[in-house]
Amino acid sequence: MTDVTSTWTEPSNTATALLLLGRGSDPASERGVDCPGDLPAPSDPDLVARATAAKAALGDRVFVLGHHYQRDEVIQFADVTGDSFKLAQQAAARPGAEFIVFCGVHFMAESADILTKPEQKVILPDLAAGCSMADMAVLGQVETAWERFEDLGIAGDVVPVTYMNSSADIKGFVGRNKGVVCTSSNAKRALDWSFEQGSKVFFLPDQHLGRNTAVLEMGFDLDDCVLYDPHKPGGGLTDEQLRSARMILWRGHCSVHGRFTIDSVREVRERVPGVNVLVHPECRHDVVRAADYVGSTEYIIKALDAAPAGSAWAVGTELNLVRRLALAHPDKQIMFLDRTVCYCSTMNRIDLPHLVWALEELVAGRVPNVITVDEDTAHNARVALDQMLALP
Ligand code: 13P
Ligand code: SF4
Repeated sequence: MTDVTSTWTEPSNTATALLLLGRGSDPASERGVDCPGDLPAPSDPDLVARATAAKAALGDRVFVLGHHYQRDEVIQFADVTGDSFKLAQQAAARPGAEFIVFCGVHFMAESADILTKPEQKVILPDLAAGCSMADMAVLGQVETAWERFEDLGIAGDVVPVTYMNSSADIKGFVGRNKGVVCTSSNAKRALDWSFEQGSKVFFLPDQHLGRNTAVLEMGFDLDDCVLYDPHKPGGGLTDEQLRSARMILWRGHCSVHGRFTIDSVREVRERVPGVNVLVHPECRHDVVRAADYVGSTEYIIKALDAAPAGSAWAVGTELNLVRRLALAHPDKQIMFLDRTVCYCSTMNRIDLPHLVWALEELVAGRVPNVITVDEDTAHNARVALDQMLALP
């Protein structure tokens, strides 16, 4: 029999290596995976009571933020729920809270740290809650791309734009190079502003949001967009392709939204006559084109709130949110666009045991899993975030 353990070697800590949960961490990326401390057992029947008691003991000292993709067991303890942008704003609006417990993923906690006061501590209950899309753009790779633009003499024409779903390092790079952060709800406004500053946009890290916004909302052709692949020499693009492109898209995507296919759309239209297909702009271009409505998480929530009773909706976004919306609107037929399960596995790392552990540590006077962005990076990232907040 083959001894499988003897063939295994620990992955090296490179930009692409996968780090096993609990087997080390890479503080320079989204892939922090250590989780110190004793977690309560998931089967503990007192978890809800323990979270309630710890939160009550902390009172106004703690503020709990919950992203829409979080599990219900965690969302029930959130003081506010929202998309990544709204949550960052909410964190900034609570200068009195000593501790911001962020039930979301790493890049969101970083943004909260950037926007809150230095004495406030932002806590991520499980450091393994990263984002695979944010991990697809590593600072060194992005700087290499920029050097290529400089060598070609086009860097002065290029405005870098990064989606909120990126690490603080990348936001800092964008701030240093006179660009802007965007979210899925203001991507068009960010691109309008960027094309007033330069003739090209370098869009990070989500190729789909960049392409969908440029082509479907701004009238660009698919041919105006090129895909920069950081794993290929020179990004896999010729000098001529880079010179003529209007949108240079980074080869990154969301592993959750990227799963929806045009077949899912066809299948649901055949199965449910009259169904409205509503998807997030992180979905692939052909899926978004085939959908009836496209918009951010907050847009999806509002669209379903406003939908008439009896209407049918197939929704292409994370499953926790779609389930919650279906339960909230029993008078509407709300279903998941795909037949296979599509949770965001890293968002789901934040479960009730981790939340109880983090809150009880705070009650005991210990501050666990603090997310801190160094001052230089935070300063530059704030420039790009402030530019987003100042968008016309
Ligand atoms: P929004 O919540 O900003 O729409 O982003 C979706 C997402 O994938 C968050 O990780
Ligand atoms: Fe990242 Fe996609 Fe998960 Fe959002 S849903 S945290 S973009 S992997």
